This record gives sequence, structure tokens and C-alpha cells, in this order.
Amino acid sequence: MAILKIARMGHPVLKTPARPVEDPKSPEIRALVADMVETMIDADGTGLAAPQVHVSLRIVVFFVDASRVSEEEELEEGGAIPLTVMINPEIEPLSDETEADWEGCLSVPGMTGEVPRFNHIRYRFLGLDGKPHEREATGFHARVVQHECDHLDGILYPQRVVDMKRFGFTDALMQGTRKHLEDIGEE
Ligand code: NI
Repeated sequence: MAILKIARMGHPVLKTPARPVEDPKSPEIRALVADMVETMIDADGTGLAAPQVHVSLRIVVFFVDASRVSEEEELEEGGAIPLTVMINPEIEPLSDETEADWEGCLSVPGMTGEVPRFNHIRYRFLGLDGKPHEREATGFHARVVQHECDHLDGILYPQRVVDMKRFGFTDALMQGTRKHLEDIGEE
């Protein structure tokens, strides 16, 4: 296994729609996925898409920590979403309802932005065994899946930010928010 170099915003591989995987069970795909998992964990990410490691294929790895699983899901799933490998994933929104929240990305280091995402989705994918899987997701789980699948279509989250005042360097935004709250006597 190896820790792979992560492409940063501006690199062409992040703007290019990725190709479907033809044989999910091939040893090459298995090796790539192992490296992607190691790279994601090393970088302290919750998800990683193959284009982010310079491979233009429709593969995503992700997990959702128990603390970030929405309440309604927790009841159904009993906690965290385990490490999941998605080959050729597809998303279907189950409602028009969207929710705005802050996102970051390993390919856009040091920055954060507020992005609207569908709150309730169904998604389908192949596992490393080549078998089809189907899940529903809400809240942060749904957000992570949409963010990662965007990578497969050559889209980075800053392209989805609606109010550019709510996009910037994480430390500056957080300091600015604290200072602003002090100024208006909210803290
Ligand atoms: Ni990302």
C-alpha cells in the first residue's frame, strides 16, 4: 500500500468527468482502492474520489463517523456508516428539499464554503465484489456522497457555493465570525 499524492484545485484531472470502471474485481482496482483508503486516513478525510489521486475512474471511498450521522438515520443504522467502497455510483434525490452547510475538500486545502445539497437521496453502486448495493441517506451522510460523486463529474464544491461571502480560508472565516459576534455583542 502507498499514500498517494492528492491533486489540488486547478489540476485538469479534477475538472474531467471520470470513466466508469469496467471490472470492479480486477487486482488493479483492488490495489488502487487500498491506496485510496490509506491516503484518505492519512489526510484525515472522510471521503476520497479517484480523480483526487490523479486516476480518472468512477471510484469513491468514504465513511461517516457516528457523531455526524443524522438522528433519523442513527435510529435505522445504529451509528456510523462504515468504510464504503463505491464503484460507478449513481445518485437519485428523493426530495427537492436542500440544506446548506459547510464543506471542505482535501483538494482545496485550508478552505471552507457553504454548499446546498439534497437532504434525502438514494444511491446505488457496485462493491469490490462486483455486486450492486443500494442505500438511502440523509443529512451529512447524503452530503458526503453528493460531494464525492461530484468529483467523478469534474465538479469541486466551490462551484456549488451560492454566496461567495460564505467561502474562504477556514481560519480567516472562523476568526472573522468570532470577531463579528463580539462586535455585535453575541459572545
Ligand atoms: Ni472533495
